[in-house]
Amino acid sequence: MRKKLVIGNLKMNPVTSAEFERYLDLLEKETGNKKFEKTEIVVCPPVVYLQKLLDRELKNIKAGAQNVYWEYQGAYTGEISAGMVKSAGANYAIVGHSERRKYFDEKEEIINLKLKSILKSGLNAILCVGESMEERKGGRTATVLKKQVKDSLAGIGAGKVEYISIAYEPIWAVGTDELPTSDEILEAKLIVKKALAEMYSMKTMEKIRLLYGGNVKSYLVNQVCTDPAMDGVLVGRESLEPYEFVKIAKIIDES
Ligand code: PGA
Repeated sequence: MRKKLVIGNLKMNPVTSAEFERYLDLLEKETGNKKFEKTEIVVCPPVVYLQKLLDRELKNIKAGAQNVYWEYQGAYTGEISAGMVKSAGANYAIVGHSERRKYFDEKEEIINLKLKSILKSGLNAILCVGESMEERKGGRTATVLKKQVKDSLAGIGAGKVEYISIAYEPIWAVGTDELPTSDEILEAKLIVKKALAEMYSMKTMEKIRLLYGGNVKSYLVNQVCTDPAMDGVLVGRESLEPYEFVKIAKIIDES
């Protein structure tokens, strides 16, 4: 059975090691005695804390990176490769997050290179796509999503596709109090699926999990995940609160 995915993207938080240790204590308390039958939970901390997370060997929790560089090794000061993340013991890496696109000018070409390096290293990838409010208002949502999907996945064979999940993250909902309706999420899901079906067979397309991300809260999770029937969620702010984050995973697991 293909599992649902609940990803916590801690972004550049928390600020100190001691706070991160406390975060892990709470996470352990919330997940340690629970069973998740259908759901994988992945926490993506700042990479400097990745080893601390892995060393805890928390039941029910996997680890991921928020970003990687696409080269395997070499003189790239300040960068971290997918292979390094994999060899540390993590399982996932996020790529194409709207904050990387916005603040670090990451374009599809770079996202495509990163995606390929993630897959080559044996990590699973979470590819983020999403339109801005301006693009939505201009009626360009479908064109934008389709282009993001196709350009990001260019040259990636069907054999690798099952290691990719795609998170639909409308930029206007990420880090805000806005939320798309279930219908809008469903519409985006169909656009992404159609783009995938144009690239791969239906059977291959079905292997890719589609997540929703942007202002996910435990009390909204049905509206963004179970009602539009997504395969999981990518959680930002709320993943900093282990109680709420695990509650989201539990709701999805039991849906
Ligand atoms: P948010 O962030 O949940 O804080 O809106 C989502 C994301 O960045 O993926």
